[in-house]
Amino acid sequence: MKIKLYIWLIALSLITNLSHAGEGMWLPLLLSQLNEKEMHDMGMRITADDIYSINHSSLKDAIVLFGGGCTGELVSEQGLLLTNHHCGYSNIQKHSSLDHDYLTNGFWAQSLEEELPNAGLSVTFLVSMSEITLKTLSGVNEHMKQGVRDSIIQVNIRRLTKEAVKGTHYAALIKPFFGGNQYYLFVTETFTDVRLVGAPPSNIGKFGGDTDNWMWPRHTGDFSMFRIYAGKNNEPAEYSKDNVPYHPAKHLSISLKGIKEGDFTFVYGFPGTTQEYLPSYAVDMTALQRNPIAIGLRQQRLDIIDKAMESDRLTRIQYSAKAAGIANTWKKMIGESRGIKRLGAIEKKQVFEKDFLQWVQSDAVNSSKYGQLLPAFSKAYSGFVPVNNAYTYLTEGLLGIELMRFANGYNALVKQCNDKSKTDADISKLVEQLKTAAAAFHKNYNKRVDMQLFQALMATYTHSCENGMQVPLVKATSTRYKENINAWSADLYKKTLFADSTKLNALLSGFKRKDARKIEKDPAYIVSTGIYAYLQNTFAPAVNAFYSTNDSLQRLYMAAQMEMQPDKRFYPDANSTLRVAYGNVKSYQPADAVDYTWFTTLDGIMQKENPDIYDYVVEPKLKELYKRHDYGRYADRDSSMHVAFIASNHTTGGNSGSPVLNADGQLIGINFDRCWEGTMSDLMYDPEQCRNISLDIRYCLFIIDKMAGARRLIDEMTIVE
Ligand code: ARG
Ligand code: GLU
Repeated sequence: MKIKLYIWLIALSLITNLSHAGEGMWLPLLLSQLNEKEMHDMGMRITADDIYSINHSSLKDAIVLFGGGCTGELVSEQGLLLTNHHCGYSNIQKHSSLDHDYLTNGFWAQSLEEELPNAGLSVTFLVSMSEITLKTLSGVNEHMKQGVRDSIIQVNIRRLTKEAVKGTHYAALIKPFFGGNQYYLFVTETFTDVRLVGAPPSNIGKFGGDTDNWMWPRHTGDFSMFRIYAGKNNEPAEYSKDNVPYHPAKHLSISLKGIKEGDFTFVYGFPGTTQEYLPSYAVDMTALQRNPIAIGLRQQRLDIIDKAMESDRLTRIQYSAKAAGIANTWKKMIGESRGIKRLGAIEKKQVFEKDFLQWVQSDAVNSSKYGQLLPAFSKAYSGFVPVNNAYTYLTEGLLGIELMRFANGYNALVKQCNDKSKTDADISKLVEQLKTAAAAFHKNYNKRVDMQLFQALMATYTHSCENGMQVPLVKATSTRYKENINAWSADLYKKTLFADSTKLNALLSGFKRKDARKIEKDPAYIVSTGIYAYLQNTFAPAVNAFYSTNDSLQRLYMAAQMEMQPDKRFYPDANSTLRVAYGNVKSYQPADAVDYTWFTTLDGIMQKENPDIYDYVVEPKLKELYKRHDYGRYADRDSSMHVAFIASNHTTGGNSGSPVLNADGQLIGINFDRCWEGTMSDLMYDPEQCRNISLDIRYCLFIIDKMAGARRLIDEMTIVE
């Protein structure tokens, strides 16, 4: 028995130790320990120390978290930064109007003076990171309830982060890794004066639109340029016209040498969220339960919005960013659920769980520590699935109606008006804020479109969400209208103040305390308040209770998985901290008899051209360059213009805009997507199907140089030919 078990364990560790070249998002700090050798074997010519060091400048000093959800990289001594078009999109959109339609026409600042400030946009550098598990967990023991544990940890974190940045202008944060079994401290520096420098027209930067999104072969010129500005001392400063371009400790050099299949590449950036170590129940809930509901509701929204955008230019400007966001997640969920099924991910997890159970039962200590884990997971998830489904109907359905979210913003005002301790001055201050928010909201709001959303989403909600878990007020109102949602919406949109900027402005200018009554009587406000109250009073406790149980189970399960596979190299799930993923430039076979080449070219753009379809219009200037074959030094050695390429780097949302680097640490591309067949990699990576999609840096420079004629930007960069 002993021997059998031993052999079985060896076999298991062999299987799990097979490094999936490509899988993993590694901590820069630990590369020398865990990955450097493999990276060298795969072809890398620089050292782990060149990638991350706190003793001298390293590549990490050229990488930023961009706008909270993307990555950007510095490409000049003058703070010039590259990221994706879709990452700069909302800022490009904010500067756009029918007269200055930068979304459609592109934007290129001709001088520093023309670069456009962006209120609210910031970039964050990592100064250093270090492990801080013991200090973070001091005072915690294994027998505590999760809630007690969490509050002790919170207190420790507050103290430790404060100490870490005392006397500096840095910020510090401590984040859990491996389900809270480890903690790391990050010291960061944030710049808030970040200006828009350039963006290609959407028919380049968003070529293929939502049709091609998440797909290969891809031809999107998905990049935009910004510049970081600093005070005279090169330190962060609030926007001022006296600020000067920031001088980074490091900027990337750009390689024009091109790549070939099999080449080593790595991606350096800020992946947002992955969940690789969950039990099968969790994957089932996400891929087979939640995703299908959310997909259906998003489909309904898109059908309405897309149609409205097609028939009206203003609506297109107003809704393009919103539609892109809705469509992006919609398509990701479709790909993810398909990928999970095709990979048999749930079955694979079940097989692992069987092995796990055997391992647990083969040892008395393990039995007592981990014996209850899987049954506890099973119980927690089976109780939570119906709640999660109803929660999804609410958040993806009811809250897909813009007016419901917007009207809820007036809750605070009503509360203040009813609170005797609040002065009139307090109230006017809040009213001013609401006015600003209302202006921004109405700039991008179309009442007709939203009314259609209301009709469609409300109908689905009342029909499909489990009866006992519907928002009582929604149910009651719908019953009052005899389930005639169209009659309900006609009434509501006619009477409400919130859908109409003139009416709302009239209320807000000269607002008096007693006007709160008008808000409280507003039909949109009433429904919205009912929805949010239910969210807060009914869903929040249930959801929090589940996650609290689940967090402690998952922490234990993670520890157990690591104990069970002592020789496996584990990488922590993504959590918006700086990571390195590495792999090879690689083609793939998405389906029987289909073979995808690893790069695309400008020829492919011409093949996709269709002047009648918005997403496939080709910029005339680009067509001219194509006809003249005027690619200059940006052409590949095969003489074509390469546009995008794929590789086996393990990436996720947040990696958008990340630099893709070659064996010498030079910039060869900008990461912007994953191939559809591999989008389940957030839950399980498949080396056969998972590919990240990058813009070829040569296409990016070609657009800047030949199309936009922005030589001043090219001249700033360090280009290696
Ligand atoms: N799929 C990419 C990402 O997740 C690109 C999204 C933006 N593009 C779009 N067509 N919606 O961010
Ligand atoms: N486009 C994604 C982003 O915004 C990256 C694609 C992915 O999820 O891998 O980060």
